[in-house]
Formats: sequence, structure tokens, C-alpha cells
Amino acid sequence: MEKVALKDIYDPNGILLISKGIKITEDKLSRLRRFGIEEESITDVIATKDTLTQNKHPMYEEKAELDRAMRGFREKIRWIDPEVFDYCSKLLIQILFARQTMWRMYMIGLANYAEWIYAHSINVAVLSLMIGKKIGMKKESLQTLALSALLHDVGFLLVPKTAVIEMDKEDKREIFIEQHSELGKALLDEISIDETCKKVVLQHHERLDGSGYPYGLSADEISFFAKIVMIADTFDLDTSEKYYGGASSPEEAVFALQNSGNKFDPHLVAVLAGLLQ
Ligand SMILES: [Fe+2]
Repeated sequence: MEKVALKDIYDPNGILLISKGIKITEDKLSRLRRFGIEEESITDVIATKDTLTQNKHPMYEEKAELDRAMRGFREKIRWIDPEVFDYCSKLLIQILFARQTMWRMYMIGLANYAEWIYAHSINVAVLSLMIGKKIGMKKESLQTLALSALLHDVGFLLVPKTAVIEMDKEDKREIFIEQHSELGKALLDEISIDETCKKVVLQHHERLDGSGYPYGLSADEISFFAKIVMIADTFDLDTSEKYYGGASSPEEAVFALQNSGNKFDPHLVAVLAGLLQ
């Protein structure tokens, strides 16, 4: 009986070994064993094609993948409004797993490029959506906001991976990393997508006091959607181990946003602070 992978299979270092939907042959199983992965440990992610078609719930795989990607988010944010979170994660699933879209291809590219950037993008999308929902944005705007936030770092796909691995080094940051906003905009110019998404990708490192990049725009020149995403982005990076020498607590990250001069919209920062109480 033919077997297929129900979801992506990773090695202990987070490297993708087999993609979801790929046929699992005896040869592949023996190769997995060479990576220290035993068949028994992955029986829940392998199914015969018959089982797959009989038992597959339409949301099952997507929910499982989102849960996996959001493990870190749930660990760092211990209290969130369950109703708002539930609404936002369902909306996000519809966008993240939309079939036959170019942005889905970009997201798969990001997951393969660096798992932590993919997870960070999802965290930023959920946080942005929760802020948007709290301030009463309508569903259509929330969809655009979710897509913008998911893709905000898509430009990393065009940044040499060695620079990303060493992004704590100042010279690498300046030469390579800071180009990712413009490179992301260039990638979105290649596909059919809302103009707001392009603005957010281009502007998410701008700051309201003009101190950001790439153009040093000031408050009234920056898209409202980008003002939300820059807060979610900064909060998630501050609370991540990956960045700048260790993670802040959510409370410390909010405090830093509230005390950053005029870089962020104070009303939107207050909404984020309200979500975490
Ligand atoms: Fe970024």
C-alpha cells in the first residue's frame, strides 16, 4: 500500500527532510533512519493514501502546521484573549494555506530558507491581526493586514543566507540585511497582490520620527497598516532568543515600545499592551 507524508518531516536541527504529500518509499524510510528518525516516531505523520482520503479533515493539516509554527508564540505570550486569538488564527489559516497563490509559494520558500523567519512571520501576522481586530478593522482590511504581515520579511529570500546567519554583526546588517524591505517590494512587484501589502513590506522598518529605513519616512508618509506591523515585528523580535543577545519578557518589550520616543504610534502600542494584560 502506497504511503505519503501527512506533514513536513524535519531532522532534529529543523532541516526539512521530506515535504508534506510526498510518497514515502522504503528507500526514503531507510534514508530517514540514517538521519536518526525511526518509522515508529513518525507513524502519525505517515498514512496510506486510502487512509488519507477517508480520514482527512479539511482543516487538520493546516491547524497542525500553524500550531507547530506558533509553538514559540504560545510560549512567550501566556495570556491572550482566546476569542480574539481564535478569530485571528482562523482568518490566518485561510490566507496562509490559500492554494495556488504566489504568496503561498513565497511562504514555503521562507520556511525552507529559515524556519525561524517563517515562524516570526506567522507571529507578526497573528499579533497584527489581534491589534487590527481590537481597533475594529473590517474583515477585508484584516485579510490585507494578515497577508502584508505574513510577507513583511519576504525580501530575505533574496538576501545571502550567510548574512542572515550572521545578522548580529553590524557590517552584515548594513550591507545585506537592510536591503530586505526593498527586495521584498521587488518580489511582490512580480505577482498580483494588493498595493497595501507592497507598502507594508517596504515600510515596516520606517519609524514615525523619521529614524527608520530605507527612506527615513515620517509619520504621515507611512501606511497605517505598516504602523501596525512595525509594532508587532519589533515586539516579536524583542521577545525572541534569536535576536540581539537574548529575549525580553513581553512586559519589557511593551515597555520598550512605550518608551522609544516617537518611533511608534502610541495608540497602537496601547492596544498591544491591552492584549497582553
Ligand atoms: Fe524586517
